[in-house]
Amino acid sequence: MQHEFRRPRGTQDLLPPQSLRMEQLRRTAIDTAARYGYDLIETPIFEQSPVFLRVGESTDIVQHERYAFTDVGGIDLTLRPEGTAAIARAYVENGLYNAPQPVRLCYYGPMFRRERPEALRYRQHTQFGAELYGSVQPEADAEIIVLACAVVEAMGLEHPTVRANSIGCAVCRPRYREALMAYYQSRRTTLCADCQNRLETNPLRLLDCKIDISIRDTAPDIQHYWCDDCRTHYHTMVALLEDVGRPVQRDPFLVRGLDYYTRTVFEIGHPSLGDQTALFGGGRYDGLATGLDGPESSPAVGFGMGIERVMSVVGSQLPMSTRRIYVSHLAGFTQMAFALAEQLRHQGFSVETDLLGRSLKAQLRDATRRSDIAIIIGGDEWHRGYVSIKNFATNQQEEVALRDVADYLKQCVNPMH
Ligand code: HAM
Repeated sequence: MQHEFRRPRGTQDLLPPQSLRMEQLRRTAIDTAARYGYDLIETPIFEQSPVFLRVGESTDIVQHERYAFTDVGGIDLTLRPEGTAAIARAYVENGLYNAPQPVRLCYYGPMFRRERPEALRYRQHTQFGAELYGSVQPEADAEIIVLACAVVEAMGLEHPTVRANSIGCAVCRPRYREALMAYYQSRRTTLCADCQNRLETNPLRLLDCKIDISIRDTAPDIQHYWCDDCRTHYHTMVALLEDVGRPVQRDPFLVRGLDYYTRTVFEIGHPSLGDQTALFGGGRYDGLATGLDGPESSPAVGFGMGIERVMSVVGSQLPMSTRRIYVSHLAGFTQMAFALAEQLRHQGFSVETDLLGRSLKAQLRDATRRSDIAIIIGGDEWHRGYVSIKNFATNQQEEVALRDVADYLKQCVNPMH
């Protein structure tokens, strides 16, 4: 049937069980980050537009993909396309630079980009991210990468592999930019229209082009232009990661799409997503908070992870803790079923009962569709102090004393708390 009211293009309705799975991934991410000392921060989903304009005028998500509006008070606002700039604003506005450094923060929530919708590219997506403020040391970059790997592993994705690069600093990047421009300038006529434009606006993004790949292959490699500090920074980070069993693959073409990065940039993908689709991306951005009126020195490094993409890899299968129990009953036992269900919920189980006045047979048919275990109550059995419990996974049915029901269920289902 064709409905008149439809969700906006590039957005999703998240229905159970995906919505429950997503909530689990959120908890897993936040709990894992807490083990590394990262505390949750929540900022508004919209900001005054200049916060994001500082991310970089030549950045796609700022230039072409912003959901921006002027409110009735005439204030220019933008739905956040990413978390990093919003958190930089919060770091400065709340004076977190006065707190003991480093400051470790993590966040979770929706981001909005008016991109061309395609598989795993949405106009509203969800990111879990972490940002570490106050350290210029390569240990900070390494910590952020081990945290990102630990989060995806805790979510059930094994052996993440990290691609990384250093895009240099204010000392060495201009020399590389020049070399890159000279290289592409001499091949200008063969470049795609976007790259001709990038040559003027943001030459590093030439390396990101998915069309002019053969030209890129022989382009100058930034590692030959790194200053001593950038070289030491990169190699120290890589050595720290290798020491803890997180080898990094250097990708000389990795530059990332946001303008605020300095030195380290990195991405992690998954074979099932192909080369073009990253699960998470991040890097160091030492100048962003300073540009938002923060202190002269506000070094920072972080990552953002696309939760819908993680879910597409790990699947929406729910673990034991959320398995459902259905309390079914013979005619005349509605009250007992209602009371037993409520008692079990208080003990941490997820329990449903029939609300449509159905026969036991119809209830059990319903139970097979919406639960993993059915409790059947009524008749003589009930009067003897017993119920039957049917486990749909094993297809076994047993008689259990009423007082032992909770203990019995714990063998098949983990209570939620
Ligand atoms: P980003 O690479 O633009 O970086 O986004 C991070 C992750 O969000 C991507 O790797 C991807 O998984 C997911 N993502 C981005 N756009 C979409 C989309 N349209 N649909 C689905 N998933 C998407 C940032 O946003 C930076 N703030 C990361 C960062 C944090 N850098 C330093 N700190």
